[in-house]
Amino acid sequence: MIEFLKNHHQKTNFDCAYDALNNYIKFQAGQDVKRKLTACYVLFDEDSKRIQGYYTLSNNSIPLSNLPEIYKNKLPKNYQSIPAILLGRLAIDKEFQGFGYGKILLIDALKRSYEVSNEIGSFAVVVDPIDKIAEEFYLKYDFIKLPDSGKMFITMKTLKLLFG
Ligand SMILES: CC(C)(COP(=O)(O)OP(=O)(O)OC[C@H]1O[C@@H](n2cnc3c(N)ncnc32)[C@H](O)[C@@H]1OP(=O)(O)O)[C@@H](O)C(=O)NCCC(=O)NCCS
Repeated sequence: MIEFLKNHHQKTNFDCAYDALNNYIKFQAGQDVKRKLTACYVLFDEDSKRIQGYYTLSNNSIPLSNLPEIYKNKLPKNYQSIPAILLGRLAIDKEFQGFGYGKILLIDALKRSYEVSNEIGSFAVVVDPIDKIAEEFYLKYDFIKLPDSGKMFITMKTLKLLFG
């Protein structure tokens, strides 16, 4: 089951093999949610409430000059930055990796972002892959590299084909 992070979700043993992502859900996500800095959604076991995976979404923007030419040319030149949604973190506990949960959470995050973009303007979903392995994961789902940054993006126009 996927829902917004709440106090009853068990996060103490979460281990996706990346300290930064483990520490974030254990020690910082709750505070960030309270401060409205991020929205955090968790996949959890309904009986034990143990968190199996999570992702975060927040507002973001892409400098127009960073976009590949093919996109830049179709956008108004007087925009310095283009509104986007940041899928800042996505992680699955090691014990549950390789069973399709990452894909389920990614699709949930993209669908939620697409739906938000129907109410609040947003051109794309941006991700910030933690390393080359994570980059390969996003490439598999047609994310495009943002030149001059380690980030990647997928446009709402593409997501409309899936969720529109
Ligand atoms: C990357 C991660 C989220 C994938 O989650 P997962 O549950 O193991 O992946 P899934 O089982 O849902 O795999 C879905 C598909 O992606 C593929 N895949 C998984 N990890 C991949 C990778 N690193 N590179 C390329 N493809 C990958 C799977 O083979 C599968 O393909 P298929 O549908 O054709 O069989 C997870 O391994 C993880 O949390 N890693 C550590 C943190 C991390 O890298 N986060 C991502 C960005 S910060």
